[in-house]
Amino acid sequence: MSNKIRVGALISGGGTNLQAIIDRSLAGQLDAHIVFVGSDTPRAGGLERAGKHHIPRFCVDYSDIIRRYREDPGGISPPPDFDMDRVLSRQHLFPPGTDPGTLTRFFTARAAAEAALLEQMAVHGFDLLVLAGFMRTLTPYFIDRVNGDPEKPRIMNIHPAILPAFPGVDGYGDTYRYGCKVGGCTVHFVDYGEDSGPIIGQRAFPIAPGDSLDAVKEKGLRQEWELYPECIQLYAENRLRVVRRGYAPGDGRTAERSVVEILARSAS
Ligand code: GAR
Repeated sequence: MSNKIRVGALISGGGTNLQAIIDRSLAGQLDAHIVFVGSDTPRAGGLERAGKHHIPRFCVDYSDIIRRYREDPGGISPPPDFDMDRVLSRQHLFPPGTDPGTLTRFFTARAAAEAALLEQMAVHGFDLLVLAGFMRTLTPYFIDRVNGDPEKPRIMNIHPAILPAFPGVDGYGDTYRYGCKVGGCTVHFVDYGEDSGPIIGQRAFPIAPGDSLDAVKEKGLRQEWELYPECIQLYAENRLRVVRRGYAPGDGRTAERSVVEILARSAS
């Protein structure tokens, strides 16, 4: 077993993934402990779970910051170290040609919220940040301040679909409505795009003819509760390496992307 790593978690919802990680950690099945839980909304049920386990918690109310910025753009300034050109040159959340005003509004308000998150997180040392149902995209401003070494990313996300299929906010719903016969979930490192980062682990499950969307979500969550702790454990054991690999995107070009290699467990 390796030394325990310190894991921070960001959530937006009920926090069943957070609970699965806490449970594994308390059962001694995970070389990790949760050092804080942060939320983008005061309504996240997972904040109560954190409280029950005496884990430090905080909330940065994104909706409030975004609303205040919309009502009075001069009233909320971006953090002093915010560089719009740098963020725009890195982000993959909006396609080329997006209206510059839209970009300015989005990234300025996000940077204000993200700076508040970073300030809260800085109170606690952490090795890994896990997004456990955190329903906000993170911008390069935030990502660059958490990731020091590009070969050792420090932010993981769990997504309710087999990426690269169905990125976005409703992975199980999109899978179900498309008529897929298999659903799944993915844990990946976060990069500058939406659900596009290097894949660490995936699980799949069959979708039976009579399954409702609720049944699909339930099957999926059960897989998530297994998969996320497994991926965190791989990180704790220092068995994840990000390398560049060529691939064919399907339009006749060849391209390169970052992929995760999982190293064998060391003999010692
Ligand atoms: C999970 O299904 C997770 O995959 C999804 O939100 C749910 C959170 O459930 N995350 C996303 O869609 C991220 N884009 P939980 O709060 O019970 O862990």
